[in-house]
Amino acid sequence: MKVLLSEEQLQQGIARMAAEINQRFGRQPLTIICVMTGSIILVADLIRQLEMPVKLGSIHTSSYRGETKRGDLQLDASMLPDLTDAQVLIVDDIFDTGHTLDAVSRHIQSLGAADVGTAVLLYKHGRQEIEFDVDFIGFDIPDEFVVGYGLDYQGIYRNLPYVGVMESDDLSPDA
Ligand code: IMP
Ligand code: MG
Repeated sequence: MKVLLSEEQLQQGIARMAAEINQRFGRQPLTIICVMTGSIILVADLIRQLEMPVKLGSIHTSSYRGETKRGDLQLDASMLPDLTDAQVLIVDDIFDTGHTLDAVSRHIQSLGAADVGTAVLLYKHGRQEIEFDVDFIGFDIPDEFVVGYGLDYQGIYRNLPYVGVMESDDLSPDA
């Protein structure tokens, strides 16, 4: 595993994102939607640096079926709180092709939220398949498959405290 973003770099990036979010939303209540499962660690770190009253909800998506290629997107919105007229910030781990954030954002808008913003820890360059502007970005990264700090490969590596790039010996099942 090659370290791409250290714990220190991650915390600096998250502090910067939090400051931008505080500035943009002020003291108005904000409902954070955690895109499960990859964004749980980011959300946990980020919301503790937010100054407005925060509500927390989650939506479950999965696009990878145990591989590093995208499959059909599945969206489970059954755990969302009432979002009518709410000011919402959707938080995901990584923006890759853009399909996940686009689908989640459309869905949240259809539920009557007043304002829907988006934040991602990582923005992977050269992979976008649709036009979509992310409001808050932690780090721009090159087109490499990354794990750690919430991001997984086949369900593992989410607990790494840093973001790493998998190397060929990490790909074997018993690595
Ligand atoms: P998108 O729909 O292509 O933008 O993909 C977004 C989702 O794919 C993210 O929420 C991640 O769960 C997953 N994903 C994309 N790239 C990576 C990666 O490099 N490592 C781990 N998961 C990834
Ligand atoms: Mg995800």
